[in-house]
Amino acid sequence: MTVEEALQSGAAALPTREGIPDPRREAAWLLARAWGVDEITLRLHPEREVPAEIEARYRSWLERRAAGEPAHHLTGFCPFWGREFLVTPEVLVPRPETELLVQTALELPLSATARVLDVGTGSGCVAVCMAAERPRWRVCAVDRSPAALRVAGRNIERHGVEIELFLGDLASAAAPPWDLVVANLPYIPSSNLERLPKEVRHDPSAALDGGADGLDLVRALLADLPRLLRVCGGAVLEIGENQADAVATVAAGAGLAVARRVRDIGGCERVVVLQPT
Ligand SMILES: C[S@@+](CC[C@H](N)C(=O)[O-])C[C@H]1O[C@@H](n2cnc3c(N)ncnc32)[C@H](O)[C@@H]1O
Repeated sequence: MTVEEALQSGAAALPTREGIPDPRREAAWLLARAWGVDEITLRLHPEREVPAEIEARYRSWLERRAAGEPAHHLTGFCPFWGREFLVTPEVLVPRPETELLVQTALELPLSATARVLDVGTGSGCVAVCMAAERPRWRVCAVDRSPAALRVAGRNIERHGVEIELFLGDLASAAAPPWDLVVANLPYIPSSNLERLPKEVRHDPSAALDGGADGLDLVRALLADLPRLLRVCGGAVLEIGENQADAVATVAAGAGLAVARRVRDIGGCERVVVLQPT
């Protein structure tokens, strides 16, 4: 079977639905990963024969993908901020919108040796990117899932950065003060979890479930931020659609102000920057 034939039959085997907007592109991504090449190589050589063992892996991935397993769980890797991160079913697959959290954090005018804490680090993607982009920052990361911390540890090693990991509830395990706290905590209202696309339901619910209005963990972290942050420190949080106003109200009650709201490419206020008032 040639590359072109494999892509055509692969695209036909995948349903077009939320989570698979472009079956041909998805098929190309899976074939490239199964083969260990990039997608441009496939595009340049549509006539090339696909080796039998690669085709077998590709077919099995297509079947599992059609049944709703996320592509990144099949391959075990996910791209984020131009890097590849190891992912397992124990961690949230890094999302493109979280790159906005990293970008916003990196734009803050912090000292070259800032102390930075990533709360709810999961795969470690946010902490690793910050440590890689700002090698003199002293980055720590915390999660309450030991399995997630193991994955974060492997990603830290893979990317050759220095990050201290803590197991614990929110920021309780790591000693303040911090110049910057970043967090992408679970923010989906519990009642919405059932309605999520199949792919998202493969993520651990502890990484998604934010309680009745989605803000349980955000509220708890905000209440603690005045204790955690240096006087001129700040926090950058990823939030869900339409949560920015509610977060601003919670922040005001905790003695914090929203210094910036950042919209994602879909126009949603996705990231907020908070500062002590
Ligand atoms: C939405 S995921 C984000 C993972 C990663 N930071 C990212 O952006 O891809 C939320 C993470 O917060 C962790 N988490 C949930 N509740 C927590 C808590 N009370 N204390 C610490 N971590 C928590 C989950 O285990 C999960 O890894």
